[in-house]
Amino acid sequence: MVVSFLSFLIMSVSTRSGFLRQTPLSAFLFLILCICLTGFSALAQSSPSSGFHPGKPWPDQEGVHINAHGGGILYHSNTYYWFGEHKSERSSAALVGITCYASTDLVHWKNEGVVLSVSDDPQSDIVRGCVMERPKVVYNPSTGKFVLYFHLELKGQGYSAARVGIAVSDRVTGPYTYLRSLRPNANHWPLNMTEAQRTSAIVPGDFSRWWTDEWRQAVSDGLFVRRDHAGGQMSRDMTLYVDDDGKAYHIYASEENLTLHLAELTDDYLGYTGKWIRIDPGGHNEAPAIFKKEGKYFMITSGCTGWDPNAARLLSAPSIWGPWTRHPNPCTGPDADLTFRSQSTFILPVADRKDAFIFMADRWNPRKPIDATYVWLPIQFHQGLPILEWMDQWDLSFLVLRDF
Ligand code: DGJ
Repeated sequence: MVVSFLSFLIMSVSTRSGFLRQTPLSAFLFLILCICLTGFSALAQSSPSSGFHPGKPWPDQEGVHINAHGGGILYHSNTYYWFGEHKSERSSAALVGITCYASTDLVHWKNEGVVLSVSDDPQSDIVRGCVMERPKVVYNPSTGKFVLYFHLELKGQGYSAARVGIAVSDRVTGPYTYLRSLRPNANHWPLNMTEAQRTSAIVPGDFSRWWTDEWRQAVSDGLFVRRDHAGGQMSRDMTLYVDDDGKAYHIYASEENLTLHLAELTDDYLGYTGKWIRIDPGGHNEAPAIFKKEGKYFMITSGCTGWDPNAARLLSAPSIWGPWTRHPNPCTGPDADLTFRSQSTFILPVADRKDAFIFMADRWNPRKPIDATYVWLPIQFHQGLPILEWMDQWDLSFLVLRDF
């Protein structure tokens, strides 16, 4: 504002005094001054110094829009590390890899570079052009390793592979070593599937059409769990969660995106114990993000509409093992039915503040994926349930616990 006013003032004075008409050198210098002022003005307008600006470009310390989509945050040694998908100008496929940014105040971010690069080896699972989405990193204190999980789709196979990729590093900012990919829990039944459901003879081929009442009932009864029992369960949109007791869980969209699975990881976080549950069978949830408040677990998810936004969903449970109950959309106000034109990716507990959580979401831009923005909003609580309200701008001072 001040800068624009100054530019205007200089221009008016210069024009009236005939300064510009008199010397070509002065005119040139004047032009340079105007360009500098305009550049400075643009930088000042995009500066994140005044907190969070949901949906707006978010420059890193070098002034470049942060490229860490579908991300999650690890708080380690007094620093927040934001891991996300690198997106390109024209493609959502992985052409670069997983990126990392570091911050101590959640507003100013330093680009730490690519922590897991795509491979140039055509035989590699993570060859350039595959899909690497929704990376999440956790720290394992007993092994001293940082463990990265992400949704992997093999190159040239669309979204049919539905695998999870696992990588590991001794340093939080990598480089991470890619270990393997898999479909979780092969030959393990979920805790919450009955004997009748496990042994049912109904198979997907029995249905000529999807979405009928009979088909929905069969899905709810584990139609796709049985189909994938031997080969492992499909694993797409995902998050990781480490509970207070150090146990870690992988939560992922499975069964053709129709049911969420929550699977316990081994003590080193590098594999699965085989203990898992289904959540909201047939509920069609993607983009799971989880947090815990006063011993109760909450999960915010989305529906399944590709890159288009839809209404968020809320689930809660008294134990991580359930039962998980669905609640109404936690968003309120204009655009609530579109999650403010965004899709959940992570819920961040803010360090040193009790019960303070940030809902992190992506406002996708499939025509120009690199320009997708971030929607971060504080989680508020109403009658014990989380709610989300749009804010054009806010800062961490909002997160002094407020209860209605
Ligand atoms: C929605 C998912 O949430 C995204 O992560 C991505 O997989 C898109 N679908 C692809 O259409």
